[in-house]
Amino acid sequence: MRIGLIVGSLRKASWNRKVAEAVKGLFGEGFEADFIEIGDVPLYNQEFDEGMAPESYVRLRREAREHDGFIFFTPEYNRSYAPAVKNAIDVVSRDPEGSGWAGKPVAVFSASPGRLGGMAANHALRQTFVNLDMMPMQLPEVYLSNIDSGFDGDVPNEHTLGLLKKAVDGFCAHAKKFA
Ligand SMILES: Cc1cc2nc3c(=O)[nH]c(=O)nc-3n(C[C@H](O)[C@H](O)[C@H](O)COP(=O)(O)O)c2cc1C
Repeated sequence: MRIGLIVGSLRKASWNRKVAEAVKGLFGEGFEADFIEIGDVPLYNQEFDEGMAPESYVRLRREAREHDGFIFFTPEYNRSYAPAVKNAIDVVSRDPEGSGWAGKPVAVFSASPGRLGGMAANHALRQTFVNLDMMPMQLPEVYLSNIDSGFDGDVPNEHTLGLLKKAVDGFCAHAKKFA
């Protein structure tokens, strides 16, 4: 199965991006994971769907269709999830060739230097999966708190790696149900 990794933070030094990079290397046999980039996608405007959609819309929609499942890595901004993620969700949901989200397994991994691990962002994002007809992994929940002490440079420490391994294994078991 081909799994798309989608990072909501657009900054280069993002903790969520570091988490996603670590997760990419944890998939076992039968899975391949790669990044779907969303930072270059203009804010959704319904008028684009009445005329020429920007090239980045066409690219993002195609990539979503080509993947069998997704993990969103989101920071928490003011107790909700990253606007870049919402934008990508909306753009793909209005793909004239059919939504690349529908019926597919999905998980949310949230990371924050704060103590709550982006839990509010995580749950806000999960709410959108209802209308998208996505199939969220319920457990394990992945709220990575105090993430700034969970890495040695760009490398996850043993504790973080253990949590991520368990989360990826859980996601793979979940995703296989939809293969
Ligand atoms: C606009 C803004 C709002 C934020 N709101 C929250 C918040 O509600 N909860 C939280 O835990 N952290 C919050 N933070 C701090 C982020 O968790 C922190 O900047 C984090 O490093 C962002 O993720 P990243 O490292 O992947 O870019 C906020 C940061 C910004 C810039």
